[in-house]
Amino acid sequence: MPDLKAYLNDKNSRINAGLQNFIRENTRIAEAMRYSLMAGGKRIRPVLCIAAAETVGGSEADVMPIACAIEMIHTYSLIHDDLPAMDNDDLRRGKPTCHVAFNEATAILAGDALLTLAFEVLAKHHSGQIIAIIADAAGYKGMIEGQMRDIAAEGKLLSLEELEQLHRCKTGALIEASVISGAMFAGADSKQIESLRNYAGHIGLAFQVADDILNVEGDPAILGKAVGTDESRKKSTYPALMGLDKSKAFAKTLIEKAIESLNIFDVRAEPLRDIARYIIERKR
Ligand code: IPE
Ligand code: IPE
Ligand code: MG
Ligand code: MG
Repeated sequence: MPDLKAYLNDKNSRINAGLQNFIRENTRIAEAMRYSLMAGGKRIRPVLCIAAAETVGGSEADVMPIACAIEMIHTYSLIHDDLPAMDNDDLRRGKPTCHVAFNEATAILAGDALLTLAFEVLAKHHSGQIIAIIADAAGYKGMIEGQMRDIAAEGKLLSLEELEQLHRCKTGALIEASVISGAMFAGADSKQIESLRNYAGHIGLAFQVADDILNVEGDPAILGKAVGTDESRKKSTYPALMGLDKSKAFAKTLIEKAIESLNIFDVRAEPLRDIARYIIERKR
């Protein structure tokens, strides 16, 4: 694809319009939800959901509510991740974190409300199977388990295998659910799902490896969040365990494998291939 940037901008404008539509009240809680949701995330998960659907012949409009619901879940996870009891961060998406801009209680509630709203949206638009896939990925065997392990591992030295499992739960699970829910809703067959699951597993892990690398050498002004925080909190990360160069090489290998997993697809998978490359080349 000649211009992934144009593709992402195009998708993001409609994802943002879709998200705006779901929260229209002027209450304080709606304000806090909107504040974090519309602060300027990359929208990688909703874009993946739509791109996966389009790869198997589905339409953007049909999966848009699923894509928006996933972004709500992701944003809730960031609001809670930034809380003083978790990573205690002040900057997110280039703005003060939700608990700094509002207060802790409001940030907890805004996260709760985004999570709840996501499932309301899913329930209104989608099959039980899609809801189960997303709930499973976001829940106590997926993202929450990853967050639990991340917190428990502070100050400890994990093995590479333990770290991989942690990353697969914390970040990989929701990324995989983004791809699979979009494809499944669009009617993908089991062979297509298998290929896409392979793809998603590789990019999901690579995404968190890239996040770890950016926490070491990223520019906070571009990144929209602080850097150096993993080291100061003694987090287990890929750069901490294998060094920067090996982490970059590892991420590159994962992306090559991800793209290989898409071999059964035609040109319609080009956006997924480009997104895979972008995941390790991104500066934010
Ligand atoms: C940040 O996710 C947290 C991780 C799981 C690594 P993103 O890098 O997708 O954050 P936004 O949505 O663009 O802010
Ligand atoms: C983000 O994880 C939260 C979730 C994936 C649920 P991190 O704490 O590793 O990511 P950043 O660096 O704060 O975005
Ligand atoms: Mg964290
Ligand atoms: Mg964090």
